[in-house]
Amino acid sequence: MSHSLKFFAVAALALGIAACNDNSAEKKESAATDSTAVKTDDTPESLDSAKFVAMIDGKKTALYQLTNHKGMTVAITNYGGRIAGIWVPDKEGKQTDVAWGMSSVDAFEKSDMAYLGALIGRYGNRIGHAQFQLDGKTYPLAANDGPNTLHGGKKGFQAVVWDAAQPNDSTLELMYTSPDMEEGFPGTLNVKVVYSVTADNALKIDYSATTDKNTIVNLTNHAYFNLNGEGSGEILGHTVQIYADKYTPVDSTLIPTGKLEPVAGTPLDFTKPAAIGARINDDNEQLKFGKGYDHNYVLNGTKGLYGLTHAATFTGDKSGISMDIYTQEPGLQFYSGNFNKSTNTLKSGAKDIHRGAFAAETQHFPDSPNKPAFPSTELKAGQQYHTVTYYKFSSK
Ligand code: GAL
Repeated sequence: MSHSLKFFAVAALALGIAACNDNSAEKKESAATDSTAVKTDDTPESLDSAKFVAMIDGKKTALYQLTNHKGMTVAITNYGGRIAGIWVPDKEGKQTDVAWGMSSVDAFEKSDMAYLGALIGRYGNRIGHAQFQLDGKTYPLAANDGPNTLHGGKKGFQAVVWDAAQPNDSTLELMYTSPDMEEGFPGTLNVKVVYSVTADNALKIDYSATTDKNTIVNLTNHAYFNLNGEGSGEILGHTVQIYADKYTPVDSTLIPTGKLEPVAGTPLDFTKPAAIGARINDDNEQLKFGKGYDHNYVLNGTKGLYGLTHAATFTGDKSGISMDIYTQEPGLQFYSGNFNKSTNTLKSGAKDIHRGAFAAETQHFPDSPNKPAFPSTELKAGQQYHTVTYYKFSSK
C-alpha cells in the first residue's frame, strides 16, 4: 500500500468561514444522539483528496498523507494544519483511525468544532480578561470565550491556510507568517510546524517561530483522539495516566487561579491509570467548571523517550491501542470532549458525540502572560521559539 505525496493544486471555490466557537452557548443542539459505530470504509484511501482542494483567502488548500513502513498513516490539510485522520494498527493489526476528522475542507470550515484537529496559535488555551501586558504596554485581544481569549482569538492559526511542502513521504512542513498585531499580538511571527510520522509509529510535531518584536507564543495542536476508533462511541472507558502530581485549578471561566495544587485526593488524580469515566461525574467544583475534565496538568518532568518529558499514556479499552505523549512543554491540557453535542458529521459518518473524543494539548500554562509565577511564554525579538511533542502509538 503506497501513500505517496498527494498534492492537488487545482483551484476550487472560495468558501465562507464559519468562525464559530465550540463553547458557544448558542450552539445548536442536534436531534442526533447517535453513539454507535457508523464505520463503513474509514481508511486512508477512503478520504477523497479532491475534497480538500479549495481556495481560501486566496491560498490553495490540499490534503497530504504521511506514512511509514509500520502501517501508520496521518492525513493533514494545510487549512489550519488540521489532522483529518491517524491510522494505526490495533491489537489485531487492524488499521484503526484514532483521530476525529472531516471528509472535506468545506466540512472542516463549516464545522462548529472550530479547533478540530488544528494547529493552535498564537496562544493556545486562555488569556484572562482578553488582555495582557508586555514591556509596560497593555495589549487588548478579542474576547471569544466569555470574557477571555481562547486559542489565539477570533481567527487563530486553526483558520489560516499554511504554506506547505512535503520533502518526503513521512514529513509535512507548514509555514505561516502572522503579521504584526494580527489578533492583537505584537510582532511579525514567522512560524514553522513540521509534522512527521516516525519509524516507531509516532506523530512528531516540531514547532518553531521567530519574531521581530517582543511577543508571547504558546503553540499546540487540537487533535481529538478516540483510541478505539472514530465513531466507536464514548471515550469514558479509555484508561489514562498523566505524569503530573499537580494541576492549575481554574475559576468558573476556566482561567487558572494562579495556584498549583496537588491532584491527590481529587478526581483529577491520574497519577495511577484510571478510566476517564470513573470519576468524571463526581461532585467536584473543578469538574463542574470544566463540565468534565478540561484542566492543565503541571507535568512532573518524568524522563521519557526522545529525551523528553513523559506527559501521559492513554489506552483504548476496545482496541488495545495506547498513545504515549512526550514533550518539551511544562503542561498538558486534558479535555474530555465536554462541549461536543453531535452537531457535526465526521468523515466516517459518525457524529461528534459528547465525550466521544479527548484532546491532550501540550502547552505552557493557560493565562501565563498574566501569571508571572508561571513559566514564561514571552518570545523576545530575535530569539528562537522551538518545542517538540511526540504522540507515540502502540498496541497490545
Ligand atoms: C480546549 C479547551 C476547551 C474547549 C476546547 C475546544 O483546548 O480547553 O475548554 O475550548 O478546547 O472546544
